[in-house]
Amino acid sequence: MLILGIETSCDETGVALYDSDQGLLAHALFSQIAMHADYGGVVPELASRDHVRKLLPLCDQVLAEAGKVRGDIGGIAYTAGPGLVGALMVGGSVAHALGFALGIPVLGVHHMEGHLLAPMLEDNPPAFPFVALLVSGGHTQLVLVNGIGEYEMLGESVDDAAGEAFDKTAKMLGLDYPGGPRVAALAEKGTPGRYRFPRPMTDRPGLDFSFSGLKTFTLNTVNAEEKAGGLDDQTRADIALAFEAAVVDTLTIKCRRALEQTGSKRLVIAGGVSANKRLRAGLEKMTEKLRAGVFYARPEFCTDNGAMIAYAGCQRMKAGQQDGDRIVAVPRWPM
Ligand code: KG4
Ligand code: ZN
Repeated sequence: MLILGIETSCDETGVALYDSDQGLLAHALFSQIAMHADYGGVVPELASRDHVRKLLPLCDQVLAEAGKVRGDIGGIAYTAGPGLVGALMVGGSVAHALGFALGIPVLGVHHMEGHLLAPMLEDNPPAFPFVALLVSGGHTQLVLVNGIGEYEMLGESVDDAAGEAFDKTAKMLGLDYPGGPRVAALAEKGTPGRYRFPRPMTDRPGLDFSFSGLKTFTLNTVNAEEKAGGLDDQTRADIALAFEAAVVDTLTIKCRRALEQTGSKRLVIAGGVSANKRLRAGLEKMTEKLRAGVFYARPEFCTDNGAMIAYAGCQRMKAGQQDGDRIVAVPRWPM
């Protein structure tokens, strides 16, 4: 079965073709980052309009790359939420219009399930069950994954997501949107040990996270240095490193706890922040000590993309799931 996957939940138009026998055949992504950069963040109406412009040309592009025509498609999966409602509606409308015209099933899938399953697109994918750390711009969650759709929430952020904290820290340091990769790049030039930032909620039991206090700590440090006239490039890099080290340590401590608590030997990390090199290195080290394995997707499949939606949709459609006539767009949708 050949599945067309469509991702339009935020600021990336992602399209992919996944074949249940042959795997991923083609994928394409158009990022709206440059368009939103002038505004310091995503402007929802501009995002929707750009998805309208890019979606069908990208669909034709992946079909051409895979040597297929529209008539070869056996099903269409699209991101039904969570996300920006207008942006979701574009993906859902195009998916249903195409599906209706071609007489094939259409299914709205959960964006975070897409992220969660993205490491399955790589060689040596993890077997079920596994513990997953989902770290994106909107979510920080630890989930026990027993199979497709069998998710047990182990812990989550009580306030900001890790990616959101990266983005806000970037703003404080005068870096552009999206902040995560920019903070990480700046941190490369940082001096280890100049600052020690807190590791929130690691000194008490449980698997929940909190990143809002860390954000405030960063802001206070930036303000204090600015007041003292010392917010030069090196200081900004040192703050970026201290912040990144605190996030990585915090996530690593909670992941270790989740592995110990569940007895699992497999950890999957997914979502935009899972592209972070320091986080990957920290988790590699920790899992090695536990004689466990860590699994993640290539960087372009950590952030939003169509391939993860095609894959997740394919697994669910193989089990017979489909939308019927209803376009589904759910801006807030717990997994
Ligand atoms: O999964 P994603 O593309 O979109 C959401 O579903 O939210 O995640 C985007 C988030 C942003 O907050 C971005 O700053 C962060 O992932 N991010 C990173 C890195 N790459 C993306 N954070 C830290 N280090 C990175 N290398
Ligand atoms: Zn995402």
